[in-house]
Amino acid sequence: MSRFGVAVLASGTGTNLQAILDQLHGQEEGVAVVGVASDKPGAEALERARGAQVPAATFPASEHPDREARDAAMADWLEGAGADLIVLAGYMQLLSPEFVGRFRNRIINVHPALLPSFAGIDAVGQAIEHGVRVTGVTVHFVDEGVDSGPIILQRAVPVRPGRDRDELEDAIHRTEHALLPEAVRMIAAGRVSVDSANGRVVTIRQQRT
Ligand code: GAR
Repeated sequence: MSRFGVAVLASGTGTNLQAILDQLHGQEEGVAVVGVASDKPGAEALERARGAQVPAATFPASEHPDREARDAAMADWLEGAGADLIVLAGYMQLLSPEFVGRFRNRIINVHPALLPSFAGIDAVGQAIEHGVRVTGVTVHFVDEGVDSGPIILQRAVPVRPGRDRDELEDAIHRTEHALLPEAVRMIAAGRVSVDSANGRVVTIRQQRT
C-alpha cells in the first residue's frame, strides 16, 4: 500500500494531533504523520510529535519578515516532509492566500462549532453566549477566508441548559477526536472530492466492501 503523508499544524495542546497519531499513524490505512509544524515554539503539540518520532518544526512570526515569507518557508518544509494533506488542528494563524493556493483542497481544519455558525475565535464561547441548544464540530477544506471553506463532515453536540463551559468543551473535544481522524481516513482513501460544478459542495463516495 502506498503511503499517504499527513502533516499537522498546531498552535497549542495538540489533543487532535494525538488522536490522529493514535488512530491513524502507521496503521493499516497507509497514513503516516510526516511532520508537525507550529507557530509557537512552546506548543505541547511539538512534544507529542517528538514522542511519536515525527519530525517537528517551528515557524514563529518573529523569525520571518512577514506572514507570506513565514508561510512560504513552512510550505517548503511541509512539501519536503512529503505532505499529501495538511491538517490544521488548533492552528490559530490565518494562512496566506499563496499558501492556500499552493495546497488547494489539500488543507483541512477542525472547528469547534457547526459552521457557518460561530466562525473565528472562541467558537464555544460564541455558542454559549448565543444560547444555542445544539452546537458541534465541523471539518472543512481551508480556503482564503476564515473558517469558510467547503464542509466535509459535521457532528452535532447538544448544549443542555445549565451545562457549564468545561463540560461542553470536553464533549466537543471528544467529538473532534473522532471526526477529524474519520475525515483524514476518508481523504486518504480517495473518497472525498469537491464538486466541480459547485465548489462549496463536497462529495463523499461510499466505502467499497
Ligand atoms: C480544538 O478545539 C479546535 O477545534 C480549535 O482549537 C482546539 C485545539 O485543541 N480550533 C479552532 O478554534 C480553530 N478555529 P488541541 O490543540 O487540543 O487539538
